[in-house]
Amino acid sequence: MALLKVLKVPDPRLKLRAHPVEKVDAEVQRIMDDMLETMYHDKGCGLAATQVGIQKRIIVIDFEDERTPEPLIMANPEIVWYSEQREAFTEGCLSVPNQWPSIVRASSVKFQYLDRQNKQQDLTVNGILGACIQHEIDHLNGVLFIDHLSSLKRNLLLRRAIKVRED
Ligand code: NI
Repeated sequence: MALLKVLKVPDPRLKLRAHPVEKVDAEVQRIMDDMLETMYHDKGCGLAATQVGIQKRIIVIDFEDERTPEPLIMANPEIVWYSEQREAFTEGCLSVPNQWPSIVRASSVKFQYLDRQNKQQDLTVNGILGACIQHEIDHLNGVLFIDHLSSLKRNLLLRRAIKVRED
């Protein structure tokens, strides 16, 4: 396994839309494993391939507690149902260092994905795990969590995140 470099704002590659994976083969599994190792190393609980400069629809998530007894390793994750009810959670992102805004999202989602064995799975989740999945799928579409905020707030957090990098 290898550590990958996590891109930080304002890297333009964070705005790219990732392409679907045809099949979870050995190459995709290697990317998944490297992403997991990178996420643990950088102390994140979710990582999308877009954040490591790979335009493939792959995400990994692990809260390292009872919410994720196993790491969630997914290719082509797709949300097929959103609850009408919405809920705010404090979110952070390895690509936007040291910023923790509250983001409002659907409080439950149902989604489908291919697992590490290329098997189709579906899952319904709520709470912070559901927010995390929405956050990571956004990355695959070139959307950052701060894009859900007003432009005033977004620009403020963006400036702060870029300043953190330069300090
Ligand atoms: Ni993120």
